[in-house]
Amino acid sequence: MLRQVLLSASRSPRLRRLVETAPLSKQVVARYVAGTTAEDAVRISGRLLADGLTVSVDQLGEDTIDRAQAEGIRDAYTLVLKQLADAGLSRDAEVSVKLSAVGQALPGDGAKIAYENAYQICEAAKAADTTVTLDMEDHTTTDSTLSIVGDLRKDFPSVGAVLQAYLHRTEGDCLDLAGEGSRVRLCKGAYFEPESVAYHGRGEVDRSYVRCLKILMSGPGYPMVATHDPRLIEIAGSLAAQNRRVQGSYEYQMLYGVRQEEQRRLARVGEKVRVYVPYGDEWYGYLIRRLAERPANVAFFLRSLMSKK
Ligand code: FDA
Repeated sequence: MLRQVLLSASRSPRLRRLVETAPLSKQVVARYVAGTTAEDAVRISGRLLADGLTVSVDQLGEDTIDRAQAEGIRDAYTLVLKQLADAGLSRDAEVSVKLSAVGQALPGDGAKIAYENAYQICEAAKAADTTVTLDMEDHTTTDSTLSIVGDLRKDFPSVGAVLQAYLHRTEGDCLDLAGEGSRVRLCKGAYFEPESVAYHGRGEVDRSYVRCLKILMSGPGYPMVATHDPRLIEIAGSLAAQNRRVQGSYEYQMLYGVRQEEQRRLARVGEKVRVYVPYGDEWYGYLIRRLAERPANVAFFLRSLMSKK
């Protein structure tokens, strides 16, 4: 319930102003966001790689409102990819891209603009010897995003897709995407969706996650298990063993700042673990989704909004 209220309220410009200027926001943001610049993202990535982890770097931004902004985000990705390569990190550092950041929601030819910008990011990633995963946003964008993934894969077969277990459609999408070499990140889903398209109960979402994971783990693709949920992590391990998958033929993914000990524990036992590392100034939407996942943080955060310090 709190999750739904937060995610709906996140569209309010007044709340946005309040959160962005609140004194304690910075502290909460620092927990989940690597910093504001490409240099920050590269520095944090270097530290995570030194701990045996891999990363997916995300230039924060979504709901881009004009073409220039979309191109700015594209260029920011090109820059961070070059910096990761120059620092010798890019083999273990891919990037995650939100199509809404590179123009998908622009009126008229938004999907085409997003595809062209994403294409250039894929070229920059290839030059840096790494790859791209396209994040998944709310359900109104799923078809368009999967179609762009399909188009990009013609020239860049390693482009990753994201599927959200809370959507009713996702088992079908897993079957479609479980082909040879297909990189699929499975997550629970972070947006506020109507009951007509999404499961709302935690149990229902978790059961859907397991059904989807069974499809991905038993197929010839490359599953990316994006969850912090201890039970699902255990089930993923069992499914990998049942399907005789060796470590490195799938990976675990977690967010920067969440369950860091578990990230390192999995890496120590030989699992491949990728940390999602967001950076940039446009942290508002990302932060609200993280708070919505963690009710314990919300009361603290709301009190901080009232603080005058
Ligand atoms: P759940 O929310 O049940 O959390 C399990 C446990 O993890 C909690 O009990 C808590 O201990 C810890 N935890 C989880 N979230 C936390 C937080 N914010 N702060 C502190 N502790 C927390 N979604 C989407 O719609 N599109 C996308 O493209 C992506 N991409 C993506 C990439 C990666 C690498 C990850 C890990 C996640 C995403 N997500 C996403 C987000 C995802 O859909 C989901 O909202 C979060 O991962 C939280 O769900 P969990 O599976 O972790 O379970």
